[in-house]
Amino acid sequence: MYDLIVIGSGPGGYIAAIRAAQLGMKVACVEKYDTFGGTCLNVGCIPSKALLESSERFEEAQHSLADHGIELGDVKLDLAKMMARKNQIVGQLTGGVGFLFKKNGIDGFHGTATITSANTVRVVSGEDKNVLETKRILIATGSKPSSIPGVTIDKDRIVDSTGALLLDPVPKHLVVIGAGVIGLELGSVWARLGSKVTVLEWLPKILGPADNEVAKAALRIFKKQGLEFTLDVKVTGAVVDGDSVTVTYEPKAGGDPQTIVADRVLVSTGRYAYTADLGLENVGVATDARGRIDVDDHFRTNVESIYAIGDVIRGPMLAHKAEEEGVVCVERMHNIGAHINYDAIPSVVYTHPEVAWVGKNEEELKEAGIKYRKGKFPFSANGRAKALNATDGFAKILADATTDRILGAHILGARAGEMIAELAVAMEFGASAEDIARSSHAHPTLAEIVKEAALAVDGRTLNA
Ligand code: FAD
Ligand code: NAI
Repeated sequence: MYDLIVIGSGPGGYIAAIRAAQLGMKVACVEKYDTFGGTCLNVGCIPSKALLESSERFEEAQHSLADHGIELGDVKLDLAKMMARKNQIVGQLTGGVGFLFKKNGIDGFHGTATITSANTVRVVSGEDKNVLETKRILIATGSKPSSIPGVTIDKDRIVDSTGALLLDPVPKHLVVIGAGVIGLELGSVWARLGSKVTVLEWLPKILGPADNEVAKAALRIFKKQGLEFTLDVKVTGAVVDGDSVTVTYEPKAGGDPQTIVADRVLVSTGRYAYTADLGLENVGVATDARGRIDVDDHFRTNVESIYAIGDVIRGPMLAHKAEEEGVVCVERMHNIGAHINYDAIPSVVYTHPEVAWVGKNEEELKEAGIKYRKGKFPFSANGRAKALNATDGFAKILADATTDRILGAHILGARAGEMIAELAVAMEFGASAEDIARSSHAHPTLAEIVKEAALAVDGRTLNA
């Protein structure tokens, strides 16, 4: 009899399993696929960042190292080697999860888990069937890519994010449906490797949840990089004919349908909570209108003994959000009073430059009627950014007009994803903009941009 069976070994599941084992529970983790690590390690965060990094180097070697006085001559792409490097990183990290399970005394199973009662899980792997007994079950089965009506992912000409990590050769023309995180990250990869990239987006802006000022500035930069955008349109279909795909879209304001022909299409229109084969109906676990598992603040479902975390429940689909939930969920099983401040969970888009934010954006504050002061500072006025040849972008801090408490922070610029960590910690500590402005930031660093933006909240930037 286990104390806890975790279903799914993504960042939510494997971290929850480790924390539960640390707390003394006898734990098993069941994974459908041959490798542990879930979407994030196998076909998400890690391989996409490997390709982003490699393609950025390729772009740099071709176009910007000459600015540093480094002439390379003919720069060639070895796509097979780039992909092999990505696969190697994935292999190391997914193998690492297996190692962590052993180290923490967790029983790792490969097979499809189905909940057969509130305290039993059936694990099927080929001909093998195993029934495991447990006091509690934690569902961490994550999410899968969704498509839109009229567009069928054939995994060849029309791919989802998983297929877009494997394309070979480099597409001549890649149409990306959806200017969200995946569309921009993977669109950037292929644009840098030589594809013409056209992004079609339903909203009038890119990166829906981002602050409008940031999204607008990012759009200008991405256009300068050669990505093409058609916003405010609804894609209605994609038809494959031999080696080409014809994509049809309609202007939302009305007008004639338009078509565009490409050799590959990436569908990046969001993801849905994945509950197939889980047997929720066997025990009556409730889901919401979008098929996500309903949980309370303790991550308990309506069935005592069954919990859920990560992409399969409400909230942003982010690896670090899933991890925090995994830790807090099992700690609460142990009556440890842990909690998550969802307002302090950062979002990072790993384009170049990066886009990162934490807390509220200007539109959300205005809508909530909260009075705020805004401090902004450009990368172009920072010495380190100049040395890096990375002067695009700015940092913006939004602080409560009365208390000066930081309510949100938004950064567009190189390494914004690293810089946002300071602001997430500041928000967890309930810091004011003045707290950041009075803290010493090493010179010359990009972090000084954050300090200057904090000074700007009070109208006292020193270097601009
Ligand atoms: P998952 O990682 O999806 O893991 C769920 C696991 O459960 C899977 O391995 C699945 O096989 C298994 N499973 C499902 N059903 C069963 C069953 N019945 N039996 C056994 N096993 C089962 N997030 C970030 O924060 N940063 C990023 O940079 C980032 N980049 C991304 C890039 C891409 C291309 C994609 C697609 C996603 C990215 N994400 C990123 C999102 C991130 O991957 C997810 O938010 C995260 O993986 C969710 O973790 P999870 O543990 O909830 O689920
Ligand atoms: P997304 O929700 O970020 O973006 C989807 C986009 O598609 C939206 O802008 C939407 O308006 C648009 N869209 C929907 N229907 C459309 C239509 N018919 N025509 C044109 N556009 C349409 O979803 P995405 O990019 O698929 O990513 C899924 C999730 O994966 C993200 O929400 C994120 O949580 C996670 N992720 C996180 C990353 C990170 O943290 N860096 C990286 C990649 C993914």
